[in-house]
Amino acid sequence: MDPRPVTVFAHRGASGYRPEHTIEAYRLAIEMGADVIEPDLVSTRDGVLVARHENEISGTTDVADHPELADRRTTKVVDGVTVTGWFTEDLTLAELRTLHARERLPAVRPGNTLYDGLYPVPTFDEILDLARIEAVRRGRVIAVAPETKHPSYFAALGLDLTPPLLVSLARVGWTGPDAPVAVQSFEPGNLRELRRLVDVPLVQLTGASADHAPLLTPAGLREVSTYATWLGPEKNQVLPRDAANAIGAPSSLVADAHAAGLKVVVYTVRAEPQFLPSNVDVDRELDALVAAGVDGIFADQPDLALASVERARTEDRCLALRARRSRDLRVG
Ligand code: G3P
Ligand code: CA
Repeated sequence: MDPRPVTVFAHRGASGYRPEHTIEAYRLAIEMGADVIEPDLVSTRDGVLVARHENEISGTTDVADHPELADRRTTKVVDGVTVTGWFTEDLTLAELRTLHARERLPAVRPGNTLYDGLYPVPTFDEILDLARIEAVRRGRVIAVAPETKHPSYFAALGLDLTPPLLVSLARVGWTGPDAPVAVQSFEPGNLRELRRLVDVPLVQLTGASADHAPLLTPAGLREVSTYATWLGPEKNQVLPRDAANAIGAPSSLVADAHAAGLKVVVYTVRAEPQFLPSNVDVDRELDALVAAGVDGIFADQPDLALASVERARTEDRCLALRARRSRDLRVG
């Protein structure tokens, strides 16, 4: 048995190495050995689920270079935030398919800009098919963790994300508790609705918002466990940072979540300095999360997370070996 199993979720694919939410980013994550690939899902105007972190796509596609779509540029309020640009809900899938993905953080990840303009925006169905084909080819489970983005906002537009999500999962037969899928959302209402409609594992994401604070109490966690399998906290909720942006002892959140029967997957570890605590490098941050007892880690560089999990396994094996040797010596 694996002494310390930690599941590696490739955040938006291997997004540290390829433009996020492209088939190539997911494929590279699978090649690296990631257990799970993560598409964030938004809707097109014709109700097709596609992978983008946001429904506003000027930062992650070349939409601004398409004069035929210039009249779609507009300003909207999305979940209380005013945003100007082009929105997936204003484009049909056919229109979206004329675009190409771009690196979202070109200043941070200049190497990824080499791939700008090469890849289309994938549909959720294409991502599911990639996972299924690669799972058969490689003889291992490759799970998918879709996140519904702005579900209430899309429902209010008449583009409810839930029906097409359920159709896509049913198409591949992923509807039961053992299906290699975990649907994530920041909105408890969206997850409660999904719980009524399908038996797949669900992930309650939590962030710094005041709305989520009650979910993180022991009573709140017990309530979350009535509909979700996983808690998905922001990593600082497990390893709080001090005034100097340094990490130290973990919070009680992992133990509290485990006591409530929830597994814990933290987001998001990124190797670049601006995302790291002030007192450790990315390897030590990953090791600290594993040591804190998390069950999963979202990482932009899944290879680094996998290496950390392997370090922990090796350490556990060495400890077990040493314990057995000293027992044998005592007996002898
Ligand atoms: O789903 C985990 C994490 O991705 C949540 O935050 O904004 O990166 O989708 P975000
Ligand atoms: Ca996400």
